[in-house]
This record gives sequence, C-alpha cells and structure tokens, in this order.
Amino acid sequence: MSHFRFIDLFAGIGGFHIAMHNLGGKCVFASEIDPYAANTYKMNFGIDPLCDIRTLDEKAIPNHDVLCAGFPCQAFSKAGKQEGFDDTRGTLFFEIKRILKYHKPKYIILENVRNLTSHDKGRTWMVISESLKELGYVITERPLIVSPHQVGVPQLRERVFILGVYSSATKKRGLHFDLPPSHRNQTNGITILNEKSQKDYAISQYEEYVLSAWDEFIKGVGRLNLGFPIWANEFGKSYNLDSLPGWKANFILKNRKLYSQNKAYIDKWLEKHNNLTDFVPTHTKFEWQAGEYITSIWDGIIQFRPSGIRVKRPTEFPALVAMVHNPVVGWEKRRLSPREVANLQSFPSDFIINSNTQQAYRQFGNAVNVKVVEFLAQQLFDQV
Ligand SMILES: C[S@@+](CC[C@H](N)C(=O)[O-])C[C@H]1O[C@@H](n2cnc3c(N)ncnc32)[C@H](O)[C@@H]1O
Repeated sequence: MSHFRFIDLFAGIGGFHIAMHNLGGKCVFASEIDPYAANTYKMNFGIDPLCDIRTLDEKAIPNHDVLCAGFPCQAFSKAGKQEGFDDTRGTLFFEIKRILKYHKPKYIILENVRNLTSHDKGRTWMVISESLKELGYVITERPLIVSPHQVGVPQLRERVFILGVYSSATKKRGLHFDLPPSHRNQTNGITILNEKSQKDYAISQYEEYVLSAWDEFIKGVGRLNLGFPIWANEFGKSYNLDSLPGWKANFILKNRKLYSQNKAYIDKWLEKHNNLTDFVPTHTKFEWQAGEYITSIWDGIIQFRPSGIRVKRPTEFPALVAMVHNPVVGWEKRRLSPREVANLQSFPSDFIINSNTQQAYRQFGNAVNVKVVEFLAQQLFDQV
C-alpha cells in the first residue's frame, strides 16, 4: 500500500509516524497531551499534536486509512497498580474505540506493554479484542508479542501489538503474521553505539569503584555460582527467617550457603572494601545474568536498578523504560547517549532529539520501536 493517510494517537515523539512515513503514509492528524513530547514531534514533523484526545470531537479528525495508537500503558504495566479499566488511564482505549466507531479506517495498529495480555486473568485482552470485533474488525486470534531483537535490533523489549482490518475490506476471518524466532543472543549491543559518545556519559568514580569490587567478587567466588541475587548484607548473618516470606528466606539461605562455602575469600573481600559501608544500600545487591557468556562485568551491559546491580550479556540491551536508569556499556564504562537510545528505538540518524537529556531518555523510553512497527505493518498491508 502506498500513499495512504494515517492518524497518530498518543503520538509521543512519533515512532509510529516514522514507520508509516517510511511505508508511504501521510500523517493527517496527531494527538499528544505532553507538551515536551509534542514539541519534539513538532520539531521533527511540522505537525503540532498537542491536545487531550478526551476533549476532541471525533468528527474533527480527518478521514484516514490507518489508525495508529500506542495507548498509555501505566494501567496495564507491572510497574503500575494493575487496575486496568478501573483506572481512568485504562479507559483511554475507549477513546480509540470512539474514533474507530465513527471513522472505520481500513487498518488499525495498536501497541501496549506485554502485560496487557495477562492482565486481570486475560479479561483486559478479551475486552479489547471483543470491542474491536464488535466494531467490525478482523484481528489476530492471539495477541502478537514482538521485541526489537527479533528484527535485528539489540534491545529486548516485548510489546503486544494488535493489528486489524475492517471486515468489509477483507474476506479473511483471521490475520496471520510470520514472526521471526525469538532466539536471544543473535544481536550485538555494539551495533547501536556511536563512537563520538565514547568520552561522554562516563560513569562516576564511585560507580566504577563499586563495579570493580563486584568484578573482583565474581572472579573470586566464580560467576557460575551466582545463579540467584547476591545480598552482601546477609553474609555472615544467622538470624531466624521464619517470619519472612518464602521467596525471601530462600534467597537469604542461598546467600548464607554461598558465604559459608567461600568464607575465607568473602571475608577478605569485605574487609578490603570496608564491609561495603561506602556502598549505597541498593549497590550491596548484585545479579549476574550473563551466565558463561562473559567473564567480567566490564564485558557486559550493566543496570543500576532499585533492586540492585544487574549484569547482562552484551548481545542486547534491556528494554528502555522511561523511569529506570539508562544502562551502562561495561566495556566503555559509560551510559548510552540520547542518540544511541534513539538508535535502540530505530529512530533515524537525522531525528531531532529533545535538548533536555532527561526528557530525551524519557521520550525514547516511552516510544515504540520503529523497525518493529514497519515489519508488522508491511505484513498487514501485504495480506489484505
Ligand atoms: C506509550 S506513549 C506512546 C509513545 C509513542 N508511540 C512514541 O513512539 O513515542 C503514550 C503517550 O500517550 C500520551 N497521552 C496520555 N494521555 C493522553 C491523552 N488524554 N491525550 C493525548 N495523549 C495522551 C502520553 O503523554 C504518552 O506520550
């Protein structure tokens, strides 16, 4: 399909816009409530999307062939309160429904967090899919879950996509998509790095010290013995665990066992590092999630998470999330630059990034991966 018209709801900074434009589409309407994101959108596409979709009369929206919407996910995400449709943000889906009912565009492309499919024991997905069918859309029987690593981009970011065709436009009863296998470790984090960023975004001296200490630890104790979260504050403790939840007591018992098996080394390590008293409490917790793949923290991708430090293989970055700290590229001892974060979301190299770095990270963390949308939309347009 070429020369089609699309609308971009909950537009953010335009991940859908870029994908649709690349496939030959023209944007005829966009809506975004956040003034910072709207400003980035306007700078890039010359369209001011600033408006609250809840206050907009659907009749004011021009006719279009494709409706795109990455509707807000807080209500469905694990990080949110899981209130689904009882949370007013969950009801933003009904704004999409209202617009679909009036315009009946040929195609719909919706995106949300993976958790949408299991939320409320699957009822949330049922409400959405039944609503779309009632409106006359043919959609896939099951939600499509796709991550950028499946299309060659080194980011693990599983998202659910709901694609549909208006029934009068197709004789098909269902849609079929060929998804690439979700094998991990086929991509390489290095491919999104930008040489020019090497000197910037360096981790702090404190962070380097903490990571060096943990790097000694994994070598001293053996990385393959670290198949559970390490809680250094538990080393040498023997208090009663009866009042703790089972999962917590289990981790603590594993930590106690690791300590008793490596007491001589760990005691020396603790002494050398002042019993970790200079560490921020969350940095006394550590997770090695790189298996055998690498032998040093400095060869991996590192996250400073509220639950502790986590090290992963260099094959793919964890999902960019608006709230969580930007990952550290171990072998360059620095964080990702906004341009690299743009690369991770498959935004083009001439995309104008918000000059406020924190806003830029947040905006890309909220965005949809362009290459994934292009991949799915092309299949949707090709089959009907
Ligand atoms: C998950 S993000 C979508 C990001 C977008 N797909 C992209 O590629 O950048 C959801 C967006 O919906 C916007 N939003 C939330 N409520 C809205 C409303 N009532 N009207 C318009 N936009 C809204 C948020 O500000 C946020 O940018």
